[in-house]
Amino acid sequence: MPKKPAPQTSPALRTKSVDQLSKQEAVQELAGLASEIARHDALYYGNDAPEISDADYDALRRRNLSIEQHFPDSVREDSPSKRVGYVPASKFAKVRHAIPMLSLDNAFSDEDVLDFVARVRRFLKLDADTELAITAEPKIDGLSLSLRYEDGRLVTAATRGDGAEGEDVTANARTIADIPRVLAGDPPEVLEVRGEVYMTAVDFETLNRRQAEEGKPLYVNPRNTAAGSLRQLDPGVTASRPLKFFAYAWGEVSAMPANTQMEMVKKFADYGFQINPLMKLYTSAKGLLEQYHTIEEVRATLGYDIDGVVYKVDDLALQERLGFVSRSPRWAIAHKFPAEKAMTILEAIDVQVGRTGALTPVARLAPVTVGGVVVTNATLHNAEEIERLGVKIGDTVIVQRAGDVIPQVLGYVEDRRPKDAWAFEFPTVCPCKLKTPIVREETAGGEEGVVRRCTGEFACPYQRKEHLKLFVSRRAFDIDGLGEKQIEAFYDDEVLPIRAPADIFTLKKRDDAHELQKLKNREGYGEVSAGKLFAAIEERRVIALERLIYALGIRHVGEATAKTLARAYGNWQAFEEAALKIADGDETAREEMDALEDIGGAVIDSVARYFAEPHNRRTVEDLIGELKTIIEPEKPISDSPVAGKSIVFTGSLERMSRDEAKAMAERLGAKAAGSVSAKTDLVVAGPGAGSKLKKASELGIEVIDEDEWFRRVGEGG
Ligand code: IVH
Repeated sequence: MPKKPAPQTSPALRTKSVDQLSKQEAVQELAGLASEIARHDALYYGNDAPEISDADYDALRRRNLSIEQHFPDSVREDSPSKRVGYVPASKFAKVRHAIPMLSLDNAFSDEDVLDFVARVRRFLKLDADTELAITAEPKIDGLSLSLRYEDGRLVTAATRGDGAEGEDVTANARTIADIPRVLAGDPPEVLEVRGEVYMTAVDFETLNRRQAEEGKPLYVNPRNTAAGSLRQLDPGVTASRPLKFFAYAWGEVSAMPANTQMEMVKKFADYGFQINPLMKLYTSAKGLLEQYHTIEEVRATLGYDIDGVVYKVDDLALQERLGFVSRSPRWAIAHKFPAEKAMTILEAIDVQVGRTGALTPVARLAPVTVGGVVVTNATLHNAEEIERLGVKIGDTVIVQRAGDVIPQVLGYVEDRRPKDAWAFEFPTVCPCKLKTPIVREETAGGEEGVVRRCTGEFACPYQRKEHLKLFVSRRAFDIDGLGEKQIEAFYDDEVLPIRAPADIFTLKKRDDAHELQKLKNREGYGEVSAGKLFAAIEERRVIALERLIYALGIRHVGEATAKTLARAYGNWQAFEEAALKIADGDETAREEMDALEDIGGAVIDSVARYFAEPHNRRTVEDLIGELKTIIEPEKPISDSPVAGKSIVFTGSLERMSRDEAKAMAERLGAKAAGSVSAKTDLVVAGPGAGSKLKKASELGIEVIDEDEWFRRVGEGG
């Protein structure tokens, strides 16, 4: 059976308590969480530019874990609980970690810490009077780095990446003064030292002052700056950024020079590393919590950002026995600090219209510094949130940010409410000139949801502009020289406006028709750059079908869905015909689309709604009229040895990522399924394969390893 999760989770579902979820809702929400968490991972690790607070991110992960615990059969192959970090960016060579770089489980309260200690004691079957030594040390808010030394010399430095494979940043790491190129003392032959690269507050401010003087954009916070600095292609740039390093963990070690965490870290100091002076040893949860509060008190004076305290079982033999659960060790936990807060005045509430027409109220705040960043805006999410908070314009509000970019309003200070504070009324029509009515979107359960949406779609200027930005984006039409900034400018241009996709393709013709106000004579353009832009546009009259479908900006049709649709329908005419039929209420056409893997009601409804809207249809027709060739998707290879087979990949794959494996199977004409059933033809299992492998052998399905897979399909990998 094809798995058919809806691609997005409705926020209303998210608020339901986990034990009230039906199995179907759980499956749907897990699908939504997997893609949402993956997106935030990409923003955080890939672009060093997170969109949500660490606290909100942790909440998403916790929610995911909790649903998985209630519905263990519904754990997805691509579940966030099965991976750490993010697949490395391709600009650096990859380094496979000899021992995976794992993550830490989080504790948010004293109780979570007591649970952790109790859990460890239970696991080790320690009786009440056996002491258990645990270390406590600051959790540095930087990025982790693994340094491999052979015969005392630094040979590779790698970022964490997805935990199994990171990026080779050796040349950059060599420019960091805290990282010895040659170790002192008597280190083991092979030693992988792991720790955190970070930037001090003073260095961060100096760097930002320099940026400001040079008229360059300011960096958001030290963590992202450190990450960005380390991941520079030019080591010269890294060298010019003052980075530091604390050693606190290790990977491969040829001969262990110590038996405890504490001694091992002390060895690091002997070898020439900086170690954190606040690391201490305790034998009770009470001691750990005291140290947590002490560190919390001195936090502001440390001069570098920390976001919690890490506790680790000290005895390495016990660590070994405790082992790991999926992405984190059982012997350690990170006790996070609560997010940082500040008070300021709520000056106004604006409503923003997003690309999908969703209206988001945004708090405009009197500038205030929270955790070293000046905050002037905060999201208020939706009308219900404003009501729940009870805030009025003019109120003194409490804002919070936790190493994030979009701060939140937590509440207001009652004593400080001015007499003339006034309540915000949510508009009933879109702030765009069309004054299109606003609807409340229904949730999966058919109830009225919290999201208010403008019904104008392409007719709504706000949405149109956002639609256009998506249209030219890298994964859509990807037009060189025509990005978000240029769309902003051309959109309101009186001479050469771009208001719809087709306008992009008539740009040159319209420019040619002008005698005087030509693009090449404008500020920012010249003969060459204007010519380049026109050439880049010309080039995109030839476009791949999946890019075209994605570029239309149909709600719920992301890149993956666009690909599925493109593959299934094969050409534009077939897709358009199906969409129009569905919009007309044709049941057979709907069922056909419904039969596609990973495509469900939400996608079909929005395809139908999109094509039912005359304005959208005209926009699309105009665009198609401008295109020369729509490239049809590659047909899967039908004579490959696995063509037509249903294949399940399970366990950890070493030569390819799971996505790569699935793509390869599809290219070879096979179907990559998520779960093993009687219909499965072949299971490719890597180390750590569990229930799927078991099920395969129960059902007598052929199981092969990754090497055999490559042998069979005759690709080198
Ligand atoms: S120990 C197997 N100690 O936190 C666990 N991690 O969420 C190895 N971090 O990826 C990590 N300070 O980047 C450890 N004193 C500390 C840390 C620390 C910061 C980071 C590290 C890790 C993440 C885990």
